[in-house]
Amino acid sequence: MSKRYTITAALPYTNGPIHIGHMAGVYVPADIYARYLRLRGKEVLFICGSDEHGVAISMKAKKEGITPKQVIDKYHNIIHNAFNDFGITFDYYGRTSSEVHHKTAQAFFKTIHEQDGFETQTTEQLYDAKEDQFLADRYVVGTCPKCSHDEAYGDQCEACGSSLNATDLIHPKSALSGETPSLKTTTHWYLPLNRYETFLRSWILEGHQNDWKPNVLGQVKSWLDDGLRPRAVTRDLSWGIPVPVEGGENKVLYVWFDAPIGYISATKEWAAKEGKDWKSFWQDEQTELVHFIGKDNIVFHCIIFPAVLKAMGNYVLPKNVPANEFLNLEGQKLSTSKNWAVWLHEYLDDFPEKQDVLRYVLTANAPETKDNDFTWNDFQHRNNSELVAIFGNFVNRVVVLMRKYYDNVVPQPNALTETDEETLQTLKDAPEKIAALIEQYKFRAASQEMMQLARVGNKYLADEEPWKLNKTNPERVATIMNVATQVVAGLAILSEPFLPNASKKLRNMLLLDTSLGWESVVNEVLVKPAHELGEAQLLFEKIEDEAIAFQQQKLAGTS
Ligand code: 2FM
Ligand code: ZN
Repeated sequence: MSKRYTITAALPYTNGPIHIGHMAGVYVPADIYARYLRLRGKEVLFICGSDEHGVAISMKAKKEGITPKQVIDKYHNIIHNAFNDFGITFDYYGRTSSEVHHKTAQAFFKTIHEQDGFETQTTEQLYDAKEDQFLADRYVVGTCPKCSHDEAYGDQCEACGSSLNATDLIHPKSALSGETPSLKTTTHWYLPLNRYETFLRSWILEGHQNDWKPNVLGQVKSWLDDGLRPRAVTRDLSWGIPVPVEGGENKVLYVWFDAPIGYISATKEWAAKEGKDWKSFWQDEQTELVHFIGKDNIVFHCIIFPAVLKAMGNYVLPKNVPANEFLNLEGQKLSTSKNWAVWLHEYLDDFPEKQDVLRYVLTANAPETKDNDFTWNDFQHRNNSELVAIFGNFVNRVVVLMRKYYDNVVPQPNALTETDEETLQTLKDAPEKIAALIEQYKFRAASQEMMQLARVGNKYLADEEPWKLNKTNPERVATIMNVATQVVAGLAILSEPFLPNASKKLRNMLLLDTSLGWESVVNEVLVKPAHELGEAQLLFEKIEDEAIAFQQQKLAGTS
């Protein structure tokens, strides 16, 4: 394993709150990964923050009749709070409007500029005469030349993932005025991606053909096979980071040039606060950099940002970019504009204290290899039949019986039967099985392996029926309850990446030694005889049909 890990989660645009699609695709898997590595005692830096530039922000400000600064302040706080409420354990949550970020992004631009790493081109670009505005990125909408989707943006088609130039769009329309744009001459700086083709092909397609996800490799291959072209990294806009070189007046950096540099600026801010060296997280070959993103961000993290890092020369490249596909909601694409979404802050209003349930359902059903569907019925089923009936039931029976029979003091086990040995072996095998899956970014399967341990514990108790033996064979009951308690303790540790709140409660219920980590499940007796357990707490509770019907009606009302 590497010396240290820099884990990044896509910086959300601060033009609206976040929903379950964002969580399932990016933030929950990234948090599982970060928590897991920390449990293994690794040095981890988990970075995120607000992406506060770009046309998405200016458009929102225009729509709401407020300034871009008001927009970013509002949503930065809403999003940051939602992440905190869901226990996403970022070490630092930055903002691309910060001074450190502006300076860092400008320094990147200047360095590449000084080494002739850009080309300038004077071309005719789409222009909205009515609004006196060049139309780039989301300011222009039209038909995608690749897949014919009729709502493609000027820089990207979200339907097929193609990266576009505004002038590629068929029948372009200004998103500001609805007018068909005219053409006007302007000069911009371009990153000549074509110069990086050979490097990208050998680094990704040859070097990572076995460890990167097929959906990521597929997209990368298709861009490379298409041939890379120079891509503009400046814009004629007023909201953004000023272009720091001669001729850059009234121009800003393209949001996708500055945003990924935000990971580095956030690291600098964190390091200054913590008295650490930011460079070791970005410029040391022994640092493993992993970007968690959704599939619409693949080109930026696998082609453009690596080309920028390569141009800078002394940065590590990502070890992996485990991008997810998209999550749908009740069979339809999640949509902010149509309000077809489950917003995190609203979820918590309706299901307070049920963060773990949503995290679990989004993981168990994560869009890892293909788009997937979230349904409220599945949410209820996973809660009632897995979290309550298996995990919760097992834990509950153990703690109730421990109190009843032993006044919460762990009994000394007697001779172990084959079943006891097998159960303890399953417990000892679990960390490695779960770890192997997490390290391959297979979080769905990892969560199911963790649940499988609870299932084994639950079955063990049901088969051994200690409640029938208490009067006749107390020696045997002591062994059963000792073994079952070890499994509960194992679950307290191994469930942490997936069910952090339940894990914390369990650790408290068992008064588990805080030094016990992932490897302890393999190497140690987790709860020793004579250890005294703490107070029982409720982990999960049944979700009734009415609560689900309410959510379904709420959605139906918006459709
Ligand atoms: O797609 C998005 O929401 C972008 N704001 C993600 C940016 S990721 C990073 F590069 F900053
Ligand atoms: Zn398309």
